[in-house]
Amino acid sequence: PRHIAIVPAAGSGSRMGAERPKQYIDLNQRPLLWHALETLTRVQRIEAVCVVLAPDDEWWPSFDWSALGDALRPMFVGGATRAHSVSNALAHMQSTMQVDDGDWVLVHDAARACLSVAQVDGLIDAVQDDPVGGLLAVPVADTLKRVHAGDGTLVGATVPRDGLWQAQTPQMFRYGLLRRALAHHDQVTDEAGAVEALGLRPRLVAADVTNFKVTYPQDLALAAQILQSRK
Ligand code: C5P
Repeated sequence: PRHIAIVPAAGSGSRMGAERPKQYIDLNQRPLLWHALETLTRVQRIEAVCVVLAPDDEWWPSFDWSALGDALRPMFVGGATRAHSVSNALAHMQSTMQVDDGDWVLVHDAARACLSVAQVDGLIDAVQDDPVGGLLAVPVADTLKRVHAGDGTLVGATVPRDGLWQAQTPQMFRYGLLRRALAHHDQVTDEAGAVEALGLRPRLVAADVTNFKVTYPQDLALAAQILQSRK
């Protein structure tokens, strides 16, 4: 089977509070989105990297992406939610890339800028023979509190962290299964959630915390340092 990456990058990134969408904020002299795309295009087994952009995205054409090579496929088919953006990309791929139901799709958040080639190779190796698919994830390190109903500042309960993992991306599933899962369950915040809703069990593949999602302004300095340290 082929391996194809999809990078949803059609969100507004409102938690970042910046004057431009999060994926285009500067990170080490490149738009934030650049870094994840660069890593994915360097993974040998990935033959195409589809970037899902908002139909009215005016930032993408203002940068020169040619250094990332011709595996890059910008698609201006972003939807109202992340799940819709991925669904639209899957539909678009069928008409433009002759994709097969058995091909692997790796969906990765544009905002996880510090993804490494080794992490992606580890995921592909671990999931390659799995009947369902899987995702990168890390065991929860902090003690978790659920807020008490009310103004949201008091502790209601401590949630045992034992057996809890934080889901990351890439999340890797067969094209046919993922398309079916998202068609039935579009209220999910990740692809695995849609697959689980079909009664299936995706495989957890231990990753590390450097593959975090750049969400708040203070995350940028940390991401910059991690990227710099790999040069
Ligand atoms: O908002 P959040 O950080 O969870 O978004 C995860 C990823 O999904 C981001 O890369 C964002 O650009 C993308 N997204 C999208 N279409 C949307 C909303 C989010 O492609 N409508």
